[in-house]
Amino acid sequence: MNRIPVLFSCSHRRSGNSDRACELFLEGLRFSGGDGEIVYLGDYDFVPCNGCGKCRTSPGHHCVHIKKDAAQSFFEKMMSAPLVFFASPIYFYHLPSRFKTFIDRGQWGWEAGQAMAPEILSLPVRPAYCMMVAGRPKGERLFQGAELTLKFFLDFFHLKMQPPLLFRGIDGPEDLAENSEISELIVDSGKKAWLEYTGNKNRRP
Ligand SMILES: Cc1cc2nc3c(=O)[nH]c(=O)nc-3n(C[C@H](O)[C@H](O)[C@H](O)COP(=O)(O)O)c2cc1C
Repeated sequence: MNRIPVLFSCSHRRSGNSDRACELFLEGLRFSGGDGEIVYLGDYDFVPCNGCGKCRTSPGHHCVHIKKDAAQSFFEKMMSAPLVFFASPIYFYHLPSRFKTFIDRGQWGWEAGQAMAPEILSLPVRPAYCMMVAGRPKGERLFQGAELTLKFFLDFFHLKMQPPLLFRGIDGPEDLAENSEISELIVDSGKKAWLEYTGNKNRRP
């Protein structure tokens, strides 16, 4: 297993709040002695799943689009990472379109799980940390859809979603960077994530 955490920045806007959140989480990981790789998922176009169902029976449950884009390489990163971090804005009460298209392409993982395929069965359960931002300062259900989607998608790959960091009223590209309280929370989350991982690894059964 690749021991490098993978941090996915899922906004289509570069150098905004999601990018900053990934940098802060990485800072936290490094503070605790770890490291990580940031993937700017929002920069990638993915071929949409068309529900053909071929991944139910194809060798390795491969998607028919596997060679057409980078989706599979990102699934592989998720599968081999000791922990993952997702940072995303809310777009229209949900996740940005490229991220959602990527999630739909994860359908092969669900099919593989249903078929008890070794690719999925052999994966250890690992933590997934998430941070989402929304421009609106209020809104009880602002994150609800996105949270549910993310949780079930991550489950396919045995990634257990931890209580997400959710921030309202973060809109301009610098809003998160300029908010020291939120920034600290994210760095802290990265610090704890690495300590938790190394603690679990060293714990005797
Ligand atoms: C297409 C689009 C849709 C958005 N929809 C919502 C929304 O439904 N609710 C909300 O509170 N903010 C919404 N926002 C605001 C973003 O969530 C907010 O600007 C966020 O901080 C962007 O994060 P980023 O800097 O990582 O891109 C939307 C922004 C865009 C561009």
